[in-house]
Amino acid sequence: MKSYNIAVIGGDGTGPEVIREAIKVLDAASQKFQLKLNYTHFDFGGERYLRTGEVLPDSAVGELRKFPAILLGAIGHPDVKPGILEKGILLRLRFELEQYINLRPVKLYDERYCPLKDKKPEHIDFVVVRENNEGLYTGAGGHVFKGTPHEVAVQESINTRRGVERCLRYAFEYTRKRNKDKKLTLCGKTNVLTFAFDLWERAFHEVGKADFPDIKRDYAHVDATTMWFVKNPEWFDVIVTDNMFGDIITDLGAMIQGGMGIAAGGNINPQGASMFEPIGGSAPKYTGLGVINPLAAICAGQMMLDFLGETVAAKAIEDAVIKAVREKLHNLAAGKMGYTTSQVGDLVASLL
Ligand code: IPM
Ligand code: MN
Repeated sequence: MKSYNIAVIGGDGTGPEVIREAIKVLDAASQKFQLKLNYTHFDFGGERYLRTGEVLPDSAVGELRKFPAILLGAIGHPDVKPGILEKGILLRLRFELEQYINLRPVKLYDERYCPLKDKKPEHIDFVVVRENNEGLYTGAGGHVFKGTPHEVAVQESINTRRGVERCLRYAFEYTRKRNKDKKLTLCGKTNVLTFAFDLWERAFHEVGKADFPDIKRDYAHVDATTMWFVKNPEWFDVIVTDNMFGDIITDLGAMIQGGMGIAAGGNINPQGASMFEPIGGSAPKYTGLGVINPLAAICAGQMMLDFLGETVAAKAIEDAVIKAVREKLHNLAAGKMGYTTSQVGDLVASLL
């Protein structure tokens, strides 16, 4: 029997509630496919910070590094100033564990949940490969004369050839493996950000030409990309982009696939500890009410199994989610599902 050690960070707000359901479904899948998942829980998050003053103990990164996969609920607490937990936990883990890919599938399971007119599941099925370690997220920059009328704030986008190229290579490989339209779209802003996206564009064509001649190369400016997400989402197969643009377009992606209740992502280090999360955040106003949709966390669990190589079990979870979405749930939004959080977990587990 195959066995995997999984680190679990429930985190803040509704994080622990949705992770409970993800584990329920993972356990049902493990039983069916004869796997063994051993969970180790970590209490990182806002509560721990408010209690101890410590965001992430220094030993945490080293400990987490030993796990092949981490399942994360949500980070962000209403009583903690924005940025402290996000930078101190989420971004620190993404960077220090070198999870240089943020993989976000955008897939519509049922047209009832799509806010776009006449768009059906066959129109919305693409994947965003977001660079996850560089760009505007590194914290490079600073203030001068802070608080005075001539204050200066500089926030720099860092793009290294190595960082950009490894992200592009991952995206090309992913497009090849996905084996759909075999089209990779670089999403950038070459008309204005003429340093950063010049590097991206050159690397994109060099790598593509040399090593991925079977993959069509396509380019879209980020502003046009948001337009096409709404107008022609069926044009996309795989999109590769930098950290900031990827952050922005994947929220729009989540909306066209049915909302934050269903959107999952993976922070991937192809050679190391990778971290899977529902992308919706901690939703403080729904915390503890049993109304939040756990499907995004369940889908994060599915992505985790897929990453671990358990593709059959992962596919079975996806099929059960699709069945629940198409045949049972009334709505994907919190409080409108027709089921409680824990009933949705039971439902998916029983459909497996
Ligand atoms: C996301 C989130 C994070 C990001 C925040 C919470 C730091 O919005 O995962 O998309 O900006 O990457
Ligand atoms: Mn985001």
